Amino acid sequence: MGYRDKLVLAPMVRVGTLPFRLLAAEYGADITYGEEIIDHKFLKCDRVTNESLGTTDFLERGTDTVVFRTCPQERDRVVFQMGTSDAVRALKAAQLVKVKDRPRDPAKWDEIADVVSALSIPVIANGDVFEYEDFKRIKDATGAASVMVARGAMWNASIFCPKGITPWEDVKREYVRKSILWDNDLKSTKQTIKEMIMHYSCLELPEGKGVNKCDTIADIAKLYREEEYYNSVLSNRNRTP
Ligand SMILES: Cc1cc2nc3c(=O)[nH]c(=O)nc-3n(C[C@H](O)[C@H](O)[C@H](O)COP(=O)(O)O)c2cc1C
Repeated sequence: MGYRDKLVLAPMVRVGTLPFRLLAAEYGADITYGEEIIDHKFLKCDRVTNESLGTTDFLERGTDTVVFRTCPQERDRVVFQMGTSDAVRALKAAQLVKVKDRPRDPAKWDEIADVVSALSIPVIANGDVFEYEDFKRIKDATGAASVMVARGAMWNASIFCPKGITPWEDVKREYVRKSILWDNDLKSTKQTIKEMIMHYSCLELPEGKGVNKCDTIADIAKLYREEEYYNSVLSNRNRTP
C-alpha cells in the first residue's frame, strides 16, 4: 500500500468500524484506518472466521464481543491502528476530541509543512479538512504526500467523492444499511449516527431520542424504516452454509 496521493479516513474510536470504513471507501477513500485498538485488549482476542458474514473477526476471548472485524473487500486498503503503552495516552487525548463543544485549536498546517520539509518519507497531513476542496488546500499548504480526514468524514462520508457531497440524510441511511449488513456493534452504530445528528440537527429531537432508546440493530432498522432490508439480510445470512 503506497502513501502518496491518497485520501485517507483517519482513525476514529467507535466510528471507524467495518461499515463506516466501507462507506468511506465507496465514496472514494483510498485508505481507511480502523479505530485504535490497544495492544493489551488485542492480546486477549481470538481470530475467528465468521462464515455467515464472510468476515474475519477478532473476538474478546470467551465472549461474542467483536474487537475488530474486517472482510476481503477492504484487504488492500485497511490500516489496523494498534495502541502501545504510549499510545494509550494518545487515545485518551483522541477521545477528548470527540466531546462536543470542547474548545479546540485550529490545525497548524504551517507546522505540518515544517515536518514535511524535514523528512524524506511520505507524510500524511491531517486536521480541519471539511470539504473536498480542502484536500488540495492542505496539500498545497503543507507539501504533504496524502491527506487524512476524521470529523469531516464522520459527519458526511461523501467528503471523499470528487463529484460533490451527498445529502447527509442519504449518507446516514446508507450507513444504517451497512451496519445491518455487517452486523455492526450497536454502540458503534449509535455513536456514529448520533455524531451525524449532532452535527446537522439536534439530539433532543425525536430522531436523536429514538436512537438513544435503541437496544438492538433491529431497533435501529425499525427507526429508519429499514425493517424489510433487515429481514432480507437476516434471512440470507441464515441461508449461508
Ligand atoms: C470521534 C473521533 C475519534 C478519534 N479516534 C482516534 C483514534 O482512535 N486514534 C487516533 O490516533 N486518533 C483518533 N482521533 C483523531 C483523528 O484521527 C484526527 O487526527 C483528528 O480528529 C484531526 O482530524 P480532523 O480535523 O479531520 O477531525 C479521533 C477523532 C475523532 C473526532
